[in-house]
Amino acid sequence: MGSPLIQVTDLHRHFRMGRETVRALDGVSLTVRRGEFWGISGPSGSGKSTLLYLLGGLDHPTSGSIRVDGQEITTLDENGLAAFRRRKVGFVFQMFNLIATMTALQNVEFPMLFSRVPLAERRARARALLERVGLAERMNHRPNELSGGQQQRVAIARSLVNSPDILLADEPTGNLDSRSGADIMSLLQELNAEGRTIILVSHDPAVIAATGRHMRLYDGRIEDEE
Ligand SMILES: Nc1ncnc2c1ncn2[C@@H]1O[C@H](COP(=O)(O)OP(=O)(O)O)[C@@H](O)[C@H]1O
Ligand SMILES: [Mg+2]
Repeated sequence: MGSPLIQVTDLHRHFRMGRETVRALDGVSLTVRRGEFWGISGPSGSGKSTLLYLLGGLDHPTSGSIRVDGQEITTLDENGLAAFRRRKVGFVFQMFNLIATMTALQNVEFPMLFSRVPLAERRARARALLERVGLAERMNHRPNELSGGQQQRVAIARSLVNSPDILLADEPTGNLDSRSGADIMSLLQELNAEGRTIILVSHDPAVIAATGRHMRLYDGRIEDEE
């Protein structure tokens, strides 16, 4: 396997809720190597999304270390985190999070506006990615003219526009029927085979079975790793 890409050490994320403290993550350590496809399972509330958001630089931990490609990201300020996200990670969410008024092509082009990619290159890259995910015929459709599975393909294409090393997927099949969910898992397997490191969280055993390495969270701790 590849070299360590993500090294998480004794990660904690606690939330203050009135008098109580919720330990969403309670001491997680983990090494993800380049090219791995991790499936993280665990019941609702076990800390899966919290872990993914921290790995993607969308949230700050209470304590602990996250090194990505040798860089400690927990001490970055907001600008540093924004740059980290733009260069290193792509996100895919359960609810697709597409912009309803934009076509598939415009949705995929959108993140490139912030990396100052020239228009012609933006368009060419977005088209190539939509072709890659099997949506060559649907580029000018808006989200409400696409099926759930097609919308998630657009979201996956969008997550890849800045060629991230790491793809983070939070319950990417959670809003799909089982057939579309299986199609999305095949697509993610292909992207992994092309060398992308993927970390996916899901409470669905069939989805987890389609990943390479498994880890289970329970009450913010790693319960099981294989
Ligand atoms: N922003 C927040 N404020 C307070 N509690 C939170 C927040 N985010 C998550 N939690 C709590 O942390 C725990 C883990 O949440 P989460 O990571 O979303 O779990 P999962 O994705 O496994 O369902 C839950 O108890 C949840 O209620
Ligand atoms: Mg969640």
